[in-house]
Amino acid sequence: MDRERALLIDTDAGVDDALALMLVLAHPRARVVAVSAVGGNVPLERVVPNVFEVLHAMGAEDVPVFPGAAGPLLPGEREHATGFHGADGLGNYAPRRARVQPQSEPAAQALVRLARERPGERTLVALGPLTNVALALALEPELPRLLEGLVVMGGAHTGRGNTPHLAAEFNFYFDPEAAHAVLQAFPRVTLLTWETTLAHPLPWEEHERLAALGTPRAEFYDAITRVTRAFLEGRGAPGLLIPDPLAMVAALEPEAVAASERHRVWVETCGAHTRGMSVLDHGRQGDPNVRIITAMDDAHVRALFERTLRG
Ligand code: RIB
Ligand code: CA
Repeated sequence: MDRERALLIDTDAGVDDALALMLVLAHPRARVVAVSAVGGNVPLERVVPNVFEVLHAMGAEDVPVFPGAAGPLLPGEREHATGFHGADGLGNYAPRRARVQPQSEPAAQALVRLARERPGERTLVALGPLTNVALALALEPELPRLLEGLVVMGGAHTGRGNTPHLAAEFNFYFDPEAAHAVLQAFPRVTLLTWETTLAHPLPWEEHERLAALGTPRAEFYDAITRVTRAFLEGRGAPGLLIPDPLAMVAALEPEAVAASERHRVWVETCGAHTRGMSVLDHGRQGDPNVRIITAMDDAHVRALFERTLRG
């Protein structure tokens, strides 16, 4: 990435969201215009303080934070992901040091206002359920044209999900209607999926090396990833899974994307077993709306982590 990029980040922070925020806040050619918060990994009232804790750790308390949707568009049973992220969503991180000072403007309104302010200049990176983005779209149907781009962590392009709905990835599972509305409205979405996440873990050896770099950022990294590590090691994972950081790297440094495919993609909103599933046309209908990232350059991703944590 050569020129400075202006980014809007929508997040359900979340340990991996926190890592993604660290990557962008440390990036020399990225400017975070705003962070919007959405309920997902943990309830919204935990997401907001988590965002402030990351901003504090990165010395970026001046970034405005807009609380958004507490729940999905349609009511119904949803499980949060506290096993993966800790009860507080941030690896049960303590002590909390940040002052929590959210903006009063709702996230969807803020996203619309900030997109209109600089048409075509700001990229939205969505790291949680797409509820805020869908609400922003309802307020401003021209949102896709007003944004420079939309990068989403979400979906499972081979139907290998990570939720009680077996074929659904968490962010699409949590709010399938929102995911459906967003994918249908945006003519070009970049998607970093769950399968691509599984293919690009941060190996434990590398994780330990980063956690032991000895800087305040590395100490924060170490502290917030402990619950996730125990959870993943208990399931035999070869390393830390980093879905949101991979999406963020793709947004910040497109050259780190090693392979991608273009498809028309829909999100299933019905189905006893398939609600939240990503349905691909595999080129049969043409007019692709989604670029699915299928491989990342691991060395590039790791270098960005190291640069962030050394800083
Ligand atoms: O399925 C992984 C995604 O769901 C990540 O964004 C994680 O933070 C959760 O939101
Ligand atoms: Ca997330």
